[in-house]
Amino acid sequence: MADTTTPLTMDTIVSLCRRRGFVFPSSEIYGGLGSTYDYGHYGVLTKNNIRSLWFRAMVQERDDVVALDSAIILNPRVWEASGHVAGFSDPMVDCRTCKLRFRADQLESASCGKKPSKRPGETSDCDLTEPRQFNLMFETHVGALRDASSTAYLRPETAQGIFVNFKNVAQLARRKPPFGIAQVGKAFRNEITPGNFLFRQREFELMEMEFFVPPDQAEEWHRYWIETRRRWYLDLGLREENLRARAHGASELSHYSSATSDLEYLYPIGWQELEGVANRGDFDLTQHTNASGTKLEWVEQDGTRYTPHVIEPAVSIDRIMLAFLCDAYREEVVNDRERVVLSLHPLVAPVKAAILPLIAKDEGMATRARNLYEELRRFHVVEHDEGGQIGRRYRRQDEIGTPWAFTVDEQTLSDETVTVRERDSLAQERLPISGVRAWLDDALARDWRSPLSR
Ligand code: GAP
Repeated sequence: MADTTTPLTMDTIVSLCRRRGFVFPSSEIYGGLGSTYDYGHYGVLTKNNIRSLWFRAMVQERDDVVALDSAIILNPRVWEASGHVAGFSDPMVDCRTCKLRFRADQLESASCGKKPSKRPGETSDCDLTEPRQFNLMFETHVGALRDASSTAYLRPETAQGIFVNFKNVAQLARRKPPFGIAQVGKAFRNEITPGNFLFRQREFELMEMEFFVPPDQAEEWHRYWIETRRRWYLDLGLREENLRARAHGASELSHYSSATSDLEYLYPIGWQELEGVANRGDFDLTQHTNASGTKLEWVEQDGTRYTPHVIEPAVSIDRIMLAFLCDAYREEVVNDRERVVLSLHPLVAPVKAAILPLIAKDEGMATRARNLYEELRRFHVVEHDEGGQIGRRYRRQDEIGTPWAFTVDEQTLSDETVTVRERDSLAQERLPISGVRAWLDDALARDWRSPLSR
């Protein structure tokens, strides 16, 4: 078995996602819409897995975090108090020659619209405007009137829906600090220079957890969440050499943050933020207390009052999915035949197993395969595939990252066993058909390490 060693490019991942129906450009028949994507069947299944693995780790397996699902469009005063109306912006420049718009702080990595493409500002033809601030929030209007009084915003983060519900949840969920509120949902940002596929989109699905702590415990909990989130990725098989934590310098901090560490992943475009873990201090609760007049504070039984500080791990499902796909992708040659494999953690993989009758026209094989499929699909996402040569069917499953294939063949007809083929090692063993379900449950519960790990 030989690995091909060409460096992975984003185009390779884009093409796999399109070929196998993970992700398509949105509204493609109309020419698409800059940096918005539609997820196809395998993309939806993978996203569902990531979302439920996150929820399991962040809520279900903890005593100190509860869930929330707040509205996407909030009272616009929320975004004034949070600082987003005034401060959620990027510096932008326009080029009067090529008519393109760039982030002023990312000119080094941008390409000018004229050919041969250069860095904006590099040639004497470039005519850049002075930088000005561009607010990233999408505006909309609520109600029949379209004037300033009806302006509202699509949320650029889910966090504010959590802060404004702090009192409701603290009272009704009977939690005391340290405790957290977790929320998953769509967020919208009118990015100036979106791109790099799922990495920077205008609409994406955020998973955020606001963890409210006594002020003197904030630094300790900040360290705890950076390590807990790092561990989550490693347990799901992300290669350790491709993941690192990096503390923000003072000039990079968001308007609300007193300290942030990014978990960065080595995407094909270099080290980039996968997840941010911010110490937001008491900024948000204090702002909303002052703006709304409702005291968002904690009162101890002895009457002591304080505004909790907030530690926030925040990440989009889209960036996680892109990291998992990049981490898992490999091309290799096995017995002179090329194959593309996604070595995804079995819990992340969209399909857990394929059930394949070796000869679809053989009634004994077809019936047994169908019965096995119908038994397994009650518990797991599995696929039944009877079309084409067995080698091609295996390769199709390899490309979508299916960890195991159960093949019903001639021997099955005499001894009621099937072959199980393992995606990464290609090892095969035989199992009684009646034991497949228990075998699959056990296999899914086992620890897993990427075969690509150093
Ligand atoms: N509430 C904190 C917050 O929103 P952020 O660093 O702006 O912080 C959090 O965003 C996470 O959301 C990032 O770490 C990244 O995973 C994801 N994210 C941000 N902008 C994104 C975009 N345009 N497309 C996809 N994911 C994005």
